Amino acid sequence: MLFSRAFSRVFRIPRNNLFGCRWLISNRPDPLSDFILSSASHSPGDPARKVSGCREAYFWSLPALHGIRHQIHHQSSSIIEEQLDPFSLVADELSLIANKLRSMVIAEVPKLASAAEYFFKLGVEGKRFRPTVLLLMATALNVRLPEPLSDGVGDALTTELRTRQQCIAEITEMIHVASLLHDDVLDDADTRRGISSLNAVMGNKLAVLAGDFLLSRACVALASLKNTEVVSLLATVVEHLVTGETMQMTTTSAQRCSLEYYMQKTYYKTASLISNSCKAIALLAGQTSEVAMLAFEYGKNLVCTFLEDFG
Ligand code: FPP
Ligand code: MG
Repeated sequence: MLFSRAFSRVFRIPRNNLFGCRWLISNRPDPLSDFILSSASHSPGDPARKVSGCREAYFWSLPALHGIRHQIHHQSSSIIEEQLDPFSLVADELSLIANKLRSMVIAEVPKLASAAEYFFKLGVEGKRFRPTVLLLMATALNVRLPEPLSDGVGDALTTELRTRQQCIAEITEMIHVASLLHDDVLDDADTRRGISSLNAVMGNKLAVLAGDFLLSRACVALASLKNTEVVSLLATVVEHLVTGETMQMTTTSAQRCSLEYYMQKTYYKTASLISNSCKAIALLAGQTSEVAMLAFEYGKNLVCTFLEDFG
């Protein structure tokens, strides 16, 4: 796939270059990109309008790609690069989500409250890579409702769908942070996101409990969507996170030499969350199972070839 090919070329780029992400705009044919393009050009809402201004397919790239991008050829087409920052396309929604997350993690007991909000405070929210991808996926997949509904009812339904998809982004972020809290306990980490890790500040016990608390809040949010297929997808993700972490912890020397084992572990530990969340976005949009699978594959290939090395 076009996206993953681009990522595989940047396997050796240091993780801080992620902040220089930009979109490359190409006129090359690619099934998912074509689908995303044609859907985005019919989508309502600001982000969609911005995206539909682009001529053809888009994929993520990095500054270090500059040196090699001239090597990427497909048929006789040339690549036209524009400095479009994917994060800015959804910046307003990202801050809405950040505020929502802060309200979702409020706890009754003061110690638990400060532990649970630790990585949701302004300035330590991380790269917000997952919510960004999910919101852009939503923009691409939310097709305009038929004309007879465009008298205001359509707008209300569109807003409701977007809110439900934002909820997936919030749940995904909560599951992600919960897994990091537990991971830092397992790794006895001192730092995370440039500050002291929660286990270092409040101890292992509170860090584990804070992770559990975030998971429980994610479950409540998930239940509110009243979509059993989506609930099942994200429950499976939690199972995969635990499985992946255990596979990593218990790797034998023979398994360490197996690419198959490595890819399976990477899928469980890192890719399952974003791929299943992309699928959930598609399902909420009422897309076919074929499109939902394309969304899943997009998330899987994006992360398996990229995030495992770059955080
Ligand atoms: C970071 O790995 C950790 C993960 C991507 C997932 C960890 C999963 C668990 C601890 C299982 C428990 C899950 C839940 C939902 C509570 P890393 O140590 O390779 O990367 P790092 O450098 O960011 O720490
Ligand atoms: Mg770790």
